[in-house]
Amino acid sequence: MRKKILAANWKMNLTNGEASDYLEVLVKELGEVNDVEVVLIPPFTAIAALAALSDRAPFIRLGAQNLHWEKSGAFTGEISAGMLRALYVKYVVVGHSERRLLFGESDAVINRKVRAALEAGLRPILCVGETLQQRENDGVEKVLEYQLREGLRDVSPKDFSEVVIAYEPVWAIGTGRTATSDQAQAAHAFARRILAAVSDHAIAERVRIQYGGSVKPENTEELMRKPDIDGALVGGASLDPRSFAQIIRKAEAALAA
Ligand code: PGA
Repeated sequence: MRKKILAANWKMNLTNGEASDYLEVLVKELGEVNDVEVVLIPPFTAIAALAALSDRAPFIRLGAQNLHWEKSGAFTGEISAGMLRALYVKYVVVGHSERRLLFGESDAVINRKVRAALEAGLRPILCVGETLQQRENDGVEKVLEYQLREGLRDVSPKDFSEVVIAYEPVWAIGTGRTATSDQAQAAHAFARRILAAVSDHAIAERVRIQYGGSVKPENTEELMRKPDIDGALVGGASLDPRSFAQIIRKAEAALAA
């Protein structure tokens, strides 16, 4: 059984002080969480504040939104995997479509970041997904296959099941337009077939594939009931701790269904 993973990608939002307040509210709303994994992915500047509060919320894991592939050196403005590890970070988002489109990250760069994360003992959340234009011109499968094969190039079999994949159709991010649960399930099942082709069937069955793109409390349960959807990467709706708490509760409800 793959444990569902619900992650809050705050993007460039919330200060360190606001992050601490957020955590207080989230913990109050949730009490305890056992059946799903919860990850908070704040901006770098709020990681330490959340790490300092970890005993208030032992069930919460920390993630980062990006990393550099080198261990150290003259890379002004960059952050290494080791620096994240030192702040008790477990997960790191790699290849988010905003990084690909606004900051020009190529699949080759993304692959270096995936491997650097794994080498340092971090779990990469590798984001893949097509733009509307790619959906219409190339088809979803071609885009997913390319991004998965390139992003996971030279990942060792031992590391493979540490990777989390996030399928995020770009046209659904921040637009209020979610993929239907059937569209998402089809893309996830296809992604798992590619994972099996580049590793093996048993490993592909262990890899968690999150859906991302306008996830909110109202659509969580239906998405999470699909057999190949193993969680969500939530942007906008994760900025309010009450709304993120509801998403977590809906994901738990989907397990019980
Ligand atoms: P959204 O963002 O939930 O605001 O659509 C998702 C993401 O970009 O990870």
